[in-house]
Amino acid sequence: FHWDEARRLTDKEEQLKQVLGVERCDIVHGDADLDKAVYSYLSQRIQQILQQQLPMNEAVVAVTGGTTLAQVGQGFDDTLSKDHQITFVPARGGVGGSYRIQSNSVAGLMAQQTNGQYIPLFLPEKLEEYTADLLLKDPNIQSIIDQSKNADCLILSVGAADVMAKRRLMTKAQYQYLKDNNAVGEAFGIFYNQQGEKVMRLPRYGMVLDDLEHIPLLLTVVAGSSKAHAVESYFKLAPKHSWLICDEGVANRILQTH
Ligand code: F6P
Repeated sequence: FHWDEARRLTDKEEQLKQVLGVERCDIVHGDADLDKAVYSYLSQRIQQILQQQLPMNEAVVAVTGGTTLAQVGQGFDDTLSKDHQITFVPARGGVGGSYRIQSNSVAGLMAQQTNGQYIPLFLPEKLEEYTADLLLKDPNIQSIIDQSKNADCLILSVGAADVMAKRRLMTKAQYQYLKDNNAVGEAFGIFYNQQGEKVMRLPRYGMVLDDLEHIPLLLTVVAGSSKAHAVESYFKLAPKHSWLICDEGVANRILQTH
């Protein structure tokens, strides 16, 4: 049973890698929309990857927010701290929704669980442009943002456009604009359509999509079949050296249409 299962998943990983054009794909069992145990499988897999891929001793890992990464962080333990001294840093400011899912909280949680360090970035993502410009000139803030841009690894997640529009407290007009332009997903404050074209970019600071090119290890973590569309389209605009770590729910739904 185990061997057949393992081979079945390995085949799927290879297929999905080809379909999405990513560098590597890891699939864990289950569909997070139906079974929350999936998140602990993701945690384990990501820890293994970090263990193998991060530079020995000191390493910086930047993280975005969201429920997926909050759950993944909850499942981390201190095995990584034996060979690595990891500093977790948020890649973005705060958005709407629960405090647990802010990138700040996710970075803090991951540091706590792994016995690592954490650098907070206490800034709301929704700011007037003139305020943002001013804050960005502050050397303390600049230094945190620089550390995230120069991270050894970025762990990010991708969301469905309608869910993220609500969480980002969009106006009715912005919401309608996304609908009219067929936005399917959001990552990094960028809403995109099925073709991977940018539909809306929120005024924001910190890491932007272009910065991802320079990050050596790019882990995109997504779970739940309802996110399949958002994931498939994301890889039309994401850097080619991305790795996808997902569940079977996402993988099956994407592969069904290919
Ligand atoms: O808000 C941060 C963020 O990483 C978004 O860029 C992404 O769309 C979302 O969170 C994913 O959230 P969730 O895991 O809750 O779907």
